Amino acid sequence: MAPTFTAKTGAAATATSDALIVPIGAGAALPAAIVGAFEGQLAAVLEARGFAGKTGEVAAFSTFGRLGVRTLILTGIGQPSGESGRWGEALRRAYGAAIKRARDEGARTVAAAVPAGAGAEEIGAIVEGLALALYTFTRYKTGAAATPAKAIEAVEVWTEGDDAAAAVAHGAAVASGVALARDLVNTISDDKTPSQIAAWAQQVAEEAGLACRVLDRAALEAGGYNAILTVGKGSAAEPRLIEMIYEPQGGGEPQGGATKTVALVGKTITFDSGGLDLKSADGMYSMKTDMGGGASVLGAMKAVAALKPGVKVIGLLTAAENMPSGTAMRPSDVVKALNGKTFEIGNTDAEGRMVLADAVTHAARAGADEIIDLATLTGAKMIALGSLAVGAFGNDQPLMDRFLASAAAAGERVWQLPTWDEYKDGLKSDIADLKSTGGRGGGAITAALFIGEFVEGKPWVHLDIAGSVATDADGPYTPKGATGVMVRSLLRYLEDAGK
Ligand code: BES
Ligand code: MN
Ligand code: ZN
Repeated sequence: MAPTFTAKTGAAATATSDALIVPIGAGAALPAAIVGAFEGQLAAVLEARGFAGKTGEVAAFSTFGRLGVRTLILTGIGQPSGESGRWGEALRRAYGAAIKRARDEGARTVAAAVPAGAGAEEIGAIVEGLALALYTFTRYKTGAAATPAKAIEAVEVWTEGDDAAAAVAHGAAVASGVALARDLVNTISDDKTPSQIAAWAQQVAEEAGLACRVLDRAALEAGGYNAILTVGKGSAAEPRLIEMIYEPQGGGEPQGGATKTVALVGKTITFDSGGLDLKSADGMYSMKTDMGGGASVLGAMKAVAALKPGVKVIGLLTAAENMPSGTAMRPSDVVKALNGKTFEIGNTDAEGRMVLADAVTHAARAGADEIIDLATLTGAKMIALGSLAVGAFGNDQPLMDRFLASAAAAGERVWQLPTWDEYKDGLKSDIADLKSTGGRGGGAITAALFIGEFVEGKPWVHLDIAGSVATDADGPYTPKGATGVMVRSLLRYLEDAGK
């Protein structure tokens, strides 16, 4: 269970939790009450330990009754950075590292002091770091491992100035969206078939007060969503297109006061075997994560309901499983997509762009002013950018620039790659309007350009999150496994767009 987060005003040195986290570094000096409690000895001990207050450095001390808490945890926060989003990111990492130490020390309740001068932005980032670092996924463990002995139940966030309740609640809502995305990605494919994903989305929508509609196979057939159907037809588990809608309240203006409508479209391949163009064993092993785009959309939609941005949001998940079988799609088959364009299947492992083709057309027709799609789309993206940066592609530089600014502010790394027309030459087919795959080079770009053929001229950003969706090493606030990448950026974008 995620811990509860509450805001407290006053001197953090008076906290009575099991552990107290205090920031230290060029951005924060130790409070006098704490220096005094240790009779001025702390500085010398820190120096002896070589603790310089850099981001990521953590030192824990037993207080032996000198403070109301049992354990004092000092966390290095370094120097405030002026670059957009980097200071918040340093705080996420510092507080994430600190609270894991508190958990290791056996604390069940934690108080965290924020650096002097921290505003809503910094407090939100701190809560995100605290909450996300504690994320665990125990669904498939049994016995003692299913309920870890060391767990933090309650966190108080202490500020000296204004009441920080709203900032704390904001950070907790963002973190719960990220955690949902991580849960979805970490879940095994046998437990997240398209219909199970749909049921999960419907439950989230119900709890959050969002509208949710699911198109099943019959509805997809009636509507002409042939690209989604073609990907799904090799699997015993039939595809679903899931649509969730958030509408801002108020004003009696068009769309309940929304300034515009933004569609978030997530590639949701519940397992990608490659289809008849089967993947290798090594390549297939991680493919339960191939619904990471949809997971981030669902996580964002959950948080959107709590954060209430001023834009209407349509969330779409293209749930389908890519399997080889006697009913599977073939390389060289031709498909007529929802928008009427035909394409030849170059490779059945290029299934993500197919489901997205129909979904972005659906988004455009549902009234989206802007479309943002997220997809674990290409191995080529991983070659180009690795796992750190998400690849961004689009057809509208103003929208791209706004999205990149929001992502930077949220502390997530996104890097734009070109979508020049010349690259489209790779997508030519001898017998259909398009081919679904380009040549060997620039595979992330040709994949993006293929999707762009189906957005009906709407401003659009495509985010290739291949490799970024999960990690095989523990990070400061990202444990091994799913990362929930882009949930924070999407939320920041929607909040910025609604201002
Ligand atoms: N889901 C994969 C992309 C992927 C590969 C994500 C490795 C993470 C790690 C996607 O469906 C795929 O298979 N893409 C192919 C496209 C190719 C056949 C044109 C790829 O990138 O190899
Ligand atoms: Mn594939
Ligand atoms: Zn895939």
